[in-house]
Amino acid sequence: MAVSSSDTILVVDFGSQVTQLIARRLREAGYHCLISPFHQADSRFIDNMAPAAIILSGGPASVTGSNSPRISDDLYAKGVPVLGICYGQQLMMAQLGGAVEGGHDAEFGRADLSHPVEPLDLLDGWFGKGTEQVWMSHGDRVTRLAPGFRAYCSSPNAPFAVVADPARKLYAVQFHPEVHHTPQGPRLLTNFASIAGCRPTWTMKAYRDTAVDGIRSKVGNGHVICGLSGGVDSTVAAKLIHEAVGDRLTCIFVDTGLLRRSETSGVVQAFRDHFNVPLILAEEQSLFLKGLAGVSDPETKRKVIGRLFVEVFERYAKSVDHAQFLAQGTLYPDVIESVSALGGPSETIKSHHNVGGLPERMNLKLLEPLRDLFKDEVRVLGRELGLPDSVVGRHPFPGPGLAIRIPGEVTREKLDTLREIDAVFIDQIRRFGLYDEIWQAFAVLLPVRTVGVMGDSRSYDYSCTLRAVTSVDGMTADSYPFTHDFLTQTANRIINEIRGVNRVTYDVTSKPPGTIEWE
Ligand code: XMP
Repeated sequence: MAVSSSDTILVVDFGSQVTQLIARRLREAGYHCLISPFHQADSRFIDNMAPAAIILSGGPASVTGSNSPRISDDLYAKGVPVLGICYGQQLMMAQLGGAVEGGHDAEFGRADLSHPVEPLDLLDGWFGKGTEQVWMSHGDRVTRLAPGFRAYCSSPNAPFAVVADPARKLYAVQFHPEVHHTPQGPRLLTNFASIAGCRPTWTMKAYRDTAVDGIRSKVGNGHVICGLSGGVDSTVAAKLIHEAVGDRLTCIFVDTGLLRRSETSGVVQAFRDHFNVPLILAEEQSLFLKGLAGVSDPETKRKVIGRLFVEVFERYAKSVDHAQFLAQGTLYPDVIESVSALGGPSETIKSHHNVGGLPERMNLKLLEPLRDLFKDEVRVLGRELGLPDSVVGRHPFPGPGLAIRIPGEVTREKLDTLREIDAVFIDQIRRFGLYDEIWQAFAVLLPVRTVGVMGDSRSYDYSCTLRAVTSVDGMTADSYPFTHDFLTQTANRIINEIRGVNRVTYDVTSKPPGTIEWE
């Protein structure tokens, strides 16, 4: 672990959609934070971890239900400060002798909190402007406080919006301080960390040093292979591992022919020429095109590409002598075991980073140096490792590449045309200084030809659509509100500069109901 447990805050997850935000808010402020599902966080687990403080998350269950998720009662008697949020508050009250009831008016969305009846350390820095805006999302509510607690603030539908027993360092709030719509929420969370005596020692410099030591001791004299995708995660993982083991890392980059313009040359130049990392370039464009011939169904495309990728990777990996470890850019959100809405532990931990069972088949051990990090932290680590912004700030790109941006059959000609459209669109976005405001932007080549007039001639060419979205994590997204000037200028450039395209549209669908990609 990068930070000593006396500076670690444990978040016990009861299945809230926003549990991860608690950890992110605290880490943004330099406090180390780990998440554990409630069924794992028993008394022994907590004694072993010895965290500085514990936060009980929200969750969809009702503490009034017979099978509601719980933790052992003795957690509150360990002398460790505890903060309960929403379900966590109700659970704390129910377990310590208070009462919780359903059937009152539910409270969803924004609420104004009343001024506290007396100062509370948890609320330092709050109420500078009188009332304080918080974000509520609850059906049940506390109706009687547990002995020793006092109510400090209320909201229109939550008489016990902030309660505390400061002598025992037990605090509980009905609202969600971790979400964006509670503007002073981060301050409340860092107040709690200070109350617990935590030091903000979680820095990327510290993480980098510890991660390098950890990789060295795990790998010993072994050899590591790492698949590069051109994306941020695999690039940062490779750079970190290279720092730890030097030439005992070999990277493999598969050119599927489904990549954006200059992607392959960019990766080769950066890794082979700039970072001096041994790199195998697998040029397999024809193999992928052949595999995709005649395939129109999006899911079949994904399966074909996934299967070929594993085959190719395995073939090239076998040529690396003494490879014992396979590096993967697995991130913390993939590792956290999710808690199902019914309160039971969920069986599945996301496995989409696994290269299709390759580690078992080739008898390779997994090396996952980013598994403690959130996506935005990977970017910070990339900068810490000296990677340029052009790499660290890149928009995400899907594994199946341009194949899922060409509805219908994928051909070499269509790929070439789409690469050109994409390059003009991204160039326009950069010229207008919008790249970093947009989460992801790309073009889709439609399987539709339309009639146009160019000069004095009739044209009958392909149409394309442009897509640009803002998002935090790709789970929800809004279309980016380009100006009309931007859109018309971009459409003109695409039609004038690229042969075979005579119509450009802009996709304004949000996610949901749409997805970001078209397939
Ligand atoms: P959707 O289209 O599901 O995309 O809204 C959300 C994010 O995931 C990316 N994406 C993929 N990434 N393999 C990947 O590695 C895939 O099969 C895949 N499908 C979508 C998409 O680009 C967006 O960032």
